[in-house]
Amino acid sequence: MKLKFPEGFIWGTSTAAYQIETASAHTWRGLQCLDGTTFDKCSQHELHREEDLEYICQMGNAYRMSHDWAKLQKAPYAAFEQQEVDAYLKFMEELKRRGKHIMLVLHHFTNPLWFEDEGGWEKEGNRMMWLDFVQKSVDIFGHLVDTWNTFNEPNVYVSNGWLAGGFPPFKKGRFFLARRVLKELGRAHDEAYDIIKNKSAAPVGISHNTVKFVGEIFPGHILAKIFDWWFMEYNHKHFLKQDFQGLSYYARMPFRPLPVDNIHSPGKLQKLGKRTDLMWEYDPKGFYEVFHRYWNKNKLPIIITESGICTHDPKVRIESIKEYLGWVYKAQQDGIDIRGYFHWSTMDNHEWNIGQYYRFGLVSVDFETGKRTMTEAGTFMGEIARTNSVEVS
Ligand code: BGC
Repeated sequence: MKLKFPEGFIWGTSTAAYQIETASAHTWRGLQCLDGTTFDKCSQHELHREEDLEYICQMGNAYRMSHDWAKLQKAPYAAFEQQEVDAYLKFMEELKRRGKHIMLVLHHFTNPLWFEDEGGWEKEGNRMMWLDFVQKSVDIFGHLVDTWNTFNEPNVYVSNGWLAGGFPPFKKGRFFLARRVLKELGRAHDEAYDIIKNKSAAPVGISHNTVKFVGEIFPGHILAKIFDWWFMEYNHKHFLKQDFQGLSYYARMPFRPLPVDNIHSPGKLQKLGKRTDLMWEYDPKGFYEVFHRYWNKNKLPIIITESGICTHDPKVRIESIKEYLGWVYKAQQDGIDIRGYFHWSTMDNHEWNIGQYYRFGLVSVDFETGKRTMTEAGTFMGEIARTNSVEVS
């Protein structure tokens, strides 16, 4: 069966500068990851921009990307580094020349070391330094941007940085601090919204990560409800000034009674007879439920800012794309206004604190040599974008 998508549908792939460029003076550089790799050199995008751009163009009419704040600004309120500006401008101009839609993300989990030294997001008012970065980004790159995404998944950032302790600044169980950071991010988002609107007609939103939290063994039901409240409701409430809602989804999270995933308890989910990828329980239908849940909140158009699967097998990736798009299509048939789909990720990259073993790329990358290889899944994604449709069984 062929599923046809609405005319003008945005089809793209997505990356984050920090995950594809060699690490600069930012908070992740040198981090030792769960799989033994170090957060430093990975896809080396900075040495392969032209080649990567060809792949991006083959796989969609759009690209979701970010810039490395630490490379652009070496100190609070400093002028942007001209060499870095030139490289980013050249890349974006070429994307525009090829008719591609650019979604620019202004914060993706990472801060320059100088920002951390100033107290980072924990200190109220520090947002002014980031807002200066936003203002300069709008002035310099704004004419090339079609959609703005202020923060990438602030709920993931805050939960990992101040509750689970997996992301810098690696704080655990600091609920009140987490709440303070969230409020600062919310204010920063609202003010960034106005800065952008002053100069750009392009829509502005955030991306919000979503998870299906399910209690399976008592008292997991209670824990799952608390997680759901914090992650899916409370965090979301701080970012309501938006023209669209950016949503991403990767996982169902069973509570037995504590959360179980494939990262910390490899094999356990399979033993329970569940579908999994290399990281989590896999349940694409959960995204369909999320579409309904968030659409019912505000009826704002939805853009899927990330969707993907952690696997080394392109065939599995293809099946997963089909399955997710089946649910996207069904939600559209239900009347939900979904305007675009960005696949995570364009190419293999550094999967944050767990490392380089965990792969999401449509284009595979040999991290030793930097060699890129288009996978069947990337070719498949390109076909979907060109025909604005997908063949599912
Ligand atoms: C993040 C990406 C990450 C992906 C897979 C998303 O939450 O935005 O940076 O690589 O999930 O874990």
